[in-house]
Amino acid sequence: MRASEILSSEASEVLANLWELDAQQRQHHDRGPDSLKAVHPSVAELLHVLILQKQANTIVEFGTSHGLSTIWLADAARRTGGHVYSVDAMPSKTSSAKDNLRSAGLADQVTLTSADGVDFAKTLPDGIDFVFVDFGLPAFLPAFERLKPKMAVGAALFVDGGPEGHWQEQPNLDCLRQLEAERGLVLIRLPMVKEHLLAVVVETAEPGTCGVTATSG
Ligand SMILES: C[S@@+](CC[C@H](N)C(=O)[O-])C[C@H]1O[C@@H](n2cnc3c(N)ncnc32)[C@H](O)[C@@H]1O
Repeated sequence: MRASEILSSEASEVLANLWELDAQQRQHHDRGPDSLKAVHPSVAELLHVLILQKQANTIVEFGTSHGLSTIWLADAARRTGGHVYSVDAMPSKTSSAKDNLRSAGLADQVTLTSADGVDFAKTLPDGIDFVFVDFGLPAFLPAFERLKPKMAVGAALFVDGGPEGHWQEQPNLDCLRQLEAERGLVLIRLPMVKEHLLAVVVETAEPGTCGVTATSG
């Protein structure tokens, strides 16, 4: 069966409405701050399966938007007995995501925060199993410095990418190089509809040895 077939009818209905809205916004080239910019369905399904395969308990998302991807993460968390911590910088989006998760019957699986990703990373518990990054790597890397010591061996990091050539453009290329240089992290490029990054922690970081510095852009 497909991952989408095991979602509850409530979750499926909320997702269908959000995907319809996302499609309309893309059709009208609406990339305004309040727009969904939702993850591609194939990525949402991959995240769901990866969490189930890993039986991940502590799941973190950077970039909630209106909660479309969060619904997928939360459904997987419900099945593993885990919990999702998700952040978005825009309070109006966090509030909308709260409503959508409630309508999907998944509010108890998620803690939503409205903050910058770096401040959010400081508040996260240890033993993180799975991280989904859905805003630019340049904005995420300063948060990763706080995050990596909290990621367990075997934890996965999935970074939503961009079309072919995305990782050759600056500042993405510099950021990719920094992530590739991380000790204890094995990273691959994953071409799907876009070219994504998937990494796994193979050894825990000594405090202060992360080696990632903040980048602008
Ligand atoms: C591509 S959208 C996320 C889409 C969402 N994951 C989904 O699939 O529906 C990126 C989101 O990240 C948020 N964002 C961008 N930079 C941020 C930052 N530094 N800290 C927190 N949120 C940020 C934006 O407000 C936006 O809602």
